[in-house]
Amino acid sequence: MISPVRWEGDRLVLIDQTRLPSLEVERGYTSWPEVAEAIRSLVVRGAPAIGVTAAFGIVLAARQSRATTFDGLLADVEAAIKGLAATRPTAVNLFWALERMRRCCLDHRTLPLDALKARLLQEAQAVLDEDVAANRAMGAHGAALVPHRARILTHCNAGALATAGYGTAGGVIRAAHAQGKVALVWVDETRPVLQGARLTAWECVKEGIPHRVISDVAAASVMARGEVDLVVTGADRIAANGDTANKIGTYALAVLARHHGIPFYVAAPFSTIDPALPSGDLIPIEERDPSEVRGFAGRQTAPAASPVFNPAFDVTPAALITAIITERGVCRPPYDFSR
Ligand code: MRU
Repeated sequence: MISPVRWEGDRLVLIDQTRLPSLEVERGYTSWPEVAEAIRSLVVRGAPAIGVTAAFGIVLAARQSRATTFDGLLADVEAAIKGLAATRPTAVNLFWALERMRRCCLDHRTLPLDALKARLLQEAQAVLDEDVAANRAMGAHGAALVPHRARILTHCNAGALATAGYGTAGGVIRAAHAQGKVALVWVDETRPVLQGARLTAWECVKEGIPHRVISDVAAASVMARGEVDLVVTGADRIAANGDTANKIGTYALAVLARHHGIPFYVAAPFSTIDPALPSGDLIPIEERDPSEVRGFAGRQTAPAASPVFNPAFDVTPAALITAIITERGVCRPPYDFSR
């Protein structure tokens, strides 16, 4: 299994996703500020993977701490929570995982500090293991929606690399492929940083899943030719009404899918649902560096003087989503995520 995030001995190990597909390298981390930088710079990305990584970032913060009292340790953990929370604003899994680690710390305040640090490591590992289990469950629920000989279009990377393993939308595709149902996966390249072309296609090659990479602008014509049976994407944050933030370009695909009468599914674990937000217009959307749009891989493709708008995500209204596939089953509108 592809494991983009794992704990090894006394360090966190991440696959460096900025180097894929040309180089498969792992990097080790022993301090939380380095982990924060890895999240910010997309060494690790994808909502669930960011959450799992941040949980291990808190483990590192606790291990780095020289505090001799619980209050001292908590202060160091809180500083790390603040620093890690400031890396990327959209994926709610980040804040969910940090809150879970804070709670774990508070709930075990009576333990000796070494035992508390060991307990935090156990908690981060549980966050990781539960994510893989959720993805496998999502895969099983989602595969049941996939028709025989399906041609599936996906956007960005919501595969193993974007999670603790197996994937959300990627997990649905994996499970359907294992059942012999997948004729072809259309992989949107996903400008500006090409998570589709670089990462999803890499996973498809590794797994022997039949696929074709298309530029994002080709999706409409592929649909118009009748060559897409369903769309499935991941999510970075889902509001209580089902509005879904995901990689920029997802909304356009949902509009296209509706126009062509193609089902549009979102696959995400409950850790991606933000019940505190009634609707998607309240989801904070990250804006990234203009250089991502002005060029790629060190080559300038737009004038340096041109102003750029670079939102990393957009919000797809719930009305355009056929169903949301979770580890607890397939949710259909009107959404009630309280169960
Ligand atoms: O900017 P990224 O690469 O972190 O964006 C990732 C996505 O938009 C994914 O589709 C989403 O996080 C779901 S990952 C299972």
